[in-house]
Amino acid sequence: LTSPPPQRDAADQNFDSMFKLLIIGNSSVGKTSFLFRYADDSFTSAFVSTVGIDFKVKTVFRNNKRIKLQIWDTAGQERYRTITTAYYRGAMGFLLMYDISNQESFSSVQDWATQIKTYSWDNAQVILVGNKCDLEDDRLIATEDGQRLSDELGFEFFEASAKDNINVKQVFERLVDVICVKNAEMEASANQQPNNKDLDIKDSQESHGACAC
Ligand SMILES: *[C@@H]1O[C@H](CO)[C@@H](O)[C@H](O)[C@H]1NC(C)=O
Repeated sequence: LTSPPPQRDAADQNFDSMFKLLIIGNSSVGKTSFLFRYADDSFTSAFVSTVGIDFKVKTVFRNNKRIKLQIWDTAGQERYRTITTAYYRGAMGFLLMYDISNQESFSSVQDWATQIKTYSWDNAQVILVGNKCDLEDDRLIATEDGQRLSDELGFEFFEASAKDNINVKQVFERLVDVICVKNAEMEASANQQPNNKDLDIKDSQESHGACAC
């Protein structure tokens, strides 16, 4: 087994691997609220537009491993696009978010998926999240439409609510699990090609300290 050494930083030696995740989607779909709910278990309905990019850290336990999640919250506004896409490359997973009460945010999902394809690592995993499912009376996007689109794009799908704390933890845990499965697959296929040592090493480095877990 040629798994790379886990990535460490000076502040926290206490983890087995680190996953960099990104939350993307149109402005005001609730990306920052979603992250605050998950990382701090807090919610505020006041909307403050994210300037550029920000992140929070949370450590989770999966299969007896400590995984440090570095979760980046990106500005949805077009004018920050060159800053935010620069962060796509190192990301192992994406939450692509729309608001079930906002038609434009859903219509833009395809565009965001194209951005992922263009700027990110090929093996990055994506979950489509229909946020604000507490706003049933204002719903414009049927659950089946979200499901159908995610099937077309090959992403997993959840509806969630940062406000009512529905499916927030589940979405992050599922993303971590699919990344772990992908890493295990890549490690297995790397081990089947002993003559491709150089390639294996390159792949390992590009996976940013990924471990099969
Ligand atoms: C939503 O996102 C799309 C795709 O990135 C963008 O073209 C569009 O301008 C955005 N709409 C708003 C209202 O921000």
